Amino acid sequence: MLKIVVTGSTGFVGRNLLKIPGAVGLSRKDIPEWTPQTDFRPFLKDAAVVIHAAGIAHGRENDPQKVFGFHVDVTRKLLQDAHDIGCTRFILISSASVYGRAKDARPIPEVQAPDPTDDYGRSKWMAEVAVQDFCRSHPSIQYTILRPPMIYGPDAPGSPAKVRALAKKGIPLPLGGLKSPRSILHVDDLVDFVKVHLLNTSDSRGMNQVLNLAAIKPLPVGEIVRKLAADGNKKPNVFDFPEAFFRPLFWMLRVLKPGSRIPQQLIEPFVLDTTKSQGFGFHRS
Ligand SMILES: NC(=O)c1ccc[n+]([C@@H]2O[C@H](COP(=O)([O-])OP(=O)(O)OC[C@H]3O[C@@H](n4cnc5c(N)ncnc54)[C@H](OP(=O)(O)O)[C@@H]3O)[C@@H](O)[C@H]2O)c1
Repeated sequence: MLKIVVTGSTGFVGRNLLKIPGAVGLSRKDIPEWTPQTDFRPFLKDAAVVIHAAGIAHGRENDPQKVFGFHVDVTRKLLQDAHDIGCTRFILISSASVYGRAKDARPIPEVQAPDPTDDYGRSKWMAEVAVQDFCRSHPSIQYTILRPPMIYGPDAPGSPAKVRALAKKGIPLPLGGLKSPRSILHVDDLVDFVKVHLLNTSDSRGMNQVLNLAAIKPLPVGEIVRKLAADGNKKPNVFDFPEAFFRPLFWMLRVLKPGSRIPQQLIEPFVLDTTKSQGFGFHRS
């Protein structure tokens, strides 16, 4: 069985990836400080694949030096060490944030030039470039870069956690009528895609590829809110309210809290073109 090292295994995505047979976790429990000087090699021993799911997500850190240092420099060193121990595959869990904001509801293909709007997206984009550059000059290790949109599932952090918490408290959510289509991905579908399509040694289609990974059908924001709220224990109270009512509120929130992504997540479309990952036989809705 292939040995697969999953970084960020204490996190939401990482702990789900640990369900893959042969997967072992690597986290701050093993290495408390991750820096570009860390020697990862003893922790990667005998690994055929590294899935790099550790990341500073959900606004957990605002210091750009830490965000770029971790996403770019630590990723580069981890990849170098993976290469040095003879690992042949590096799967980077990047993010659809590299595209920045969508201008309209047209699906965004992988070939669209990244245009990230915050340090999270910019650092993820730089990490992708670092991985591609390294693998180009070290062909014994091949990459797959996944660009998921919001990932949901049991105990998902970030926006799903916020909606779940409000629903659990029985707070009414007047967001059911929001219509902008957005791509989302269930964490089980991410795990299945990696297991079935990327770790299949007889299938080389994922080698040195960048892939959008999302459910085929984008959902209107209101429906996404209902889906996430349904994860709360109580019967969620999600109701429709005219979208026009929210625009001035979101505009104010953007002025008062310039870094906040909430307004754009609620009223702007963001649809990924999944033609490429569907070509693998990935047809989740
Ligand atoms: N969840 C989403 O909606 C989503 C969407 C697109 C892409 N992604 C990407 O998917 C990956 C996993 O996200 P997630 O939702 O699972 O986030 P998460 O639950 O916050 O988990 C993040 C993981 O990264 C580790 N980590 C964070 N900072 C670290 C540091 N400085 N040194 C070492 N480890 C560090 C965390 O370790 P500790 O437990 O020790 O903090 C944790 O294991 C990230 O790269 C994220 O960018 C997530």
